[in-house]
Amino acid sequence: MDKFVIHGGSRLHGRATVGGSKNAALALMPATLLASGNYTFSNIPDLKDIKTMGRLLESMGVDVAIGARALRINTFRVNSFEAPYEHVKKMRASIYVLGPLVARYGYAKVSLPGGCAWGPRPVNLHIEGIRKLGATVRIDRGYIIAKARRLKGRKLNLAVSSVGATGNLLMAAVLARGTTVITNAAREPEIVALEKFLTRMGARIHGTGTARLEIEGVDALHPADETMIPDRIEAGTLLAAAAITGGRIRLGGCRPSHLRSLLTHLKRAGCTVETGGDWISLKAPATLRAVGATTGIYPGFPTDMQAQWMALMTVARGPSRITETIYFDRFKHVPELVRLGADVTIEQEAATVRGGATLVGAKVMSTDLRASASLVIAGLAAAGRTEVLRVYHLDRGYDHLEKKLRLLGARIRRVAGREY
Ligand code: EPZ
Repeated sequence: MDKFVIHGGSRLHGRATVGGSKNAALALMPATLLASGNYTFSNIPDLKDIKTMGRLLESMGVDVAIGARALRINTFRVNSFEAPYEHVKKMRASIYVLGPLVARYGYAKVSLPGGCAWGPRPVNLHIEGIRKLGATVRIDRGYIIAKARRLKGRKLNLAVSSVGATGNLLMAAVLARGTTVITNAAREPEIVALEKFLTRMGARIHGTGTARLEIEGVDALHPADETMIPDRIEAGTLLAAAAITGGRIRLGGCRPSHLRSLLTHLKRAGCTVETGGDWISLKAPATLRAVGATTGIYPGFPTDMQAQWMALMTVARGPSRITETIYFDRFKHVPELVRLGADVTIEQEAATVRGGATLVGAKVMSTDLRASASLVIAGLAAAGRTEVLRVYHLDRGYDHLEKKLRLLGARIRRVAGREY
């Protein structure tokens, strides 16, 4: 198990390029099950989760060739309609195959995802939605087994504006007979990217980018190629790293419009932020101002930036309150930040950060993807040596983060598991 060794105190400076979006790719890859043929995806990040999704599709007979920042998929020979527990327990997004399989092949056997580091991650909205579209669905020994001769368009209202459920039900509805209306749909950029990709495949979707999607089912779709949108959370993480170190960076290959809430928070914390069509520059103040954050569905403050924002606020001048409204308990990074000298207390869904901490390097443990990013950010500001253990969590969603940070002047290196 690899670790990062960080010597804090370097101000980040210079330029970096943001990679393609993990969460867009994880939605678009299963969408290829909806039509037989050849697909080429570009601006694909080099991530473990992408490889995991590739292996899941290969287990279904799909040909997947992962190249340098590109992905070629061939779905001519799909011969299995199952997502076994071995795959799904590694990555919850595996459930995205449910909708396409039922819509295109009339059958799916998909393992229920396990929980994750921060509590239960139910999929009731996925199951209820597929059932409402006419599938018979039963749960059998940890598996969702769904069958349908042909799905039928219906009105679906999502009790929670779930990213995954929106994606899954959208992919089910595009081949249903008749029209489906999904209300309270997620509007995250990754879901909008899926809507646009499905439209390029011949789907008839009205309301792209809004919370009300109207889908006229069609009899068949055709393959299409796509370039992944930039990863807004990688961009936000790099900006947070520059902000905590008093640095000055410019990010290319990003979409500022996908990060409005975070950029507003960074400006209120005293950063000078400028943006262009595909770039963001940030100049950090000597000391950050304390700014509270409450996570919300897009375009609110992203829950996937909550842990990183907390790291920033541990050294900001004054107290701040960080409230997590999307997940039950996404605070596993707190005890580890406290080990670095942060002063954070949690009451239910909110954390109070005292601020003004002098962080001192220590050994800390990654527990999940964004928590590990938070520890890296704190380590960049901590005096002395910080070791972030189990960075396999981080490798799920960041494409060689340590290399990008090193190019920006950070003193960080990866130590392979066997060396320690
Ligand atoms: C997606 O997860 C992202 N993952 C997550 O990013 C992100 O944190 C999340 O959306 C919220 O933005 C991918 O896109 C692969 P949800 P997803 O369904 O779809 C509840 C990362 O760091 N819910 O929008 O699983 C759920 O419990 C990852 O890249 C139900 O109650 O999230 C949660 O409270 C982590 N029933 C809320 O909705 C359901 O059937 C949001 O979950 C489904 C969800």
